[in-house]
Amino acid sequence: MPSSGAPATSPIAPEQALALLQWQIEMGADEAIGWTPVDHLAPPQREPTQPPAAAAGRPPPAAAVAPPRALVESAAEPAQSARTLAARAETIEALAAAIAGFDACPLKRTATNTVFMDGNAAAPLMIVGEAPGADEDRIGKPFVGRAGQLLDRMLAAIGLDRSGVQITNVIYWRPPGNRKPTAQEVAACLPFVFRHIVLSRPKVLVLAGGTAASTLLDTAEGITRLRGRWFDLAVPGLDAPLPTLPMFHPAFLLRSPERKREAWRDLLALKAKLAELS
Ligand code: URA
Repeated sequence: MPSSGAPATSPIAPEQALALLQWQIEMGADEAIGWTPVDHLAPPQREPTQPPAAAAGRPPPAAAVAPPRALVESAAEPAQSARTLAARAETIEALAAAIAGFDACPLKRTATNTVFMDGNAAAPLMIVGEAPGADEDRIGKPFVGRAGQLLDRMLAAIGLDRSGVQITNVIYWRPPGNRKPTAQEVAACLPFVFRHIVLSRPKVLVLAGGTAASTLLDTAEGITRLRGRWFDLAVPGLDAPLPTLPMFHPAFLLRSPERKREAWRDLLALKAKLAELS
């Protein structure tokens, strides 16, 4: 319940309330320890250390950013061939077929399945993660393992499910032993990622984790500093920059549940941005 004097919030659906309660229990908030109720649905409070725009009640302006040129313009043969194939795809189905038939990324040789996307290609929200893990490789869909289940609960907490998002990765084949993908592997898949964005034209992009963030944002900062900040991403082939929000990867949140508080703040910012742009 909102505390007295708190801003009014719109009623939420029972399944959202349940998702929220589950989320709080996972965060360790499983008993009442204060005398006054806390409104966890209220917009995040301004913090004294925030930059001047936020202190004046305005969110800080999104920073204009472009993906690293070394990746975008990679002269390696797999990246060049991916650029040609991606440019030819005129639909998401054609793009899926082009990726499935692309043999120049060495990861494909050790993977069981190509893992392209899940969800709704017409959805306004696109989430980009790192690479398929063992479960995704077995099933052929992104984010179906434990991290994916947490991602589903995070989406449910802001009233979304997979019919309202499109989910993909910067890499379409599982790296052996779940190692981090190399720059060459990323450069070979990136033209398809861009083409996916151009063909499906999401209104908002979420970068889940440090690998997705460092692939698409030309900055040396880590995810801990990037998360929660909005960027205007120049995607090759799009005429307007794409509002982009880096967030913690759900696999990281499974290992570090104490960071879910920040993830919750980012989810609220994401929900507000989607409402603003709808
Ligand atoms: N982690 C990712 O980044 N992507 C997946 O699809 C699964 C786990």
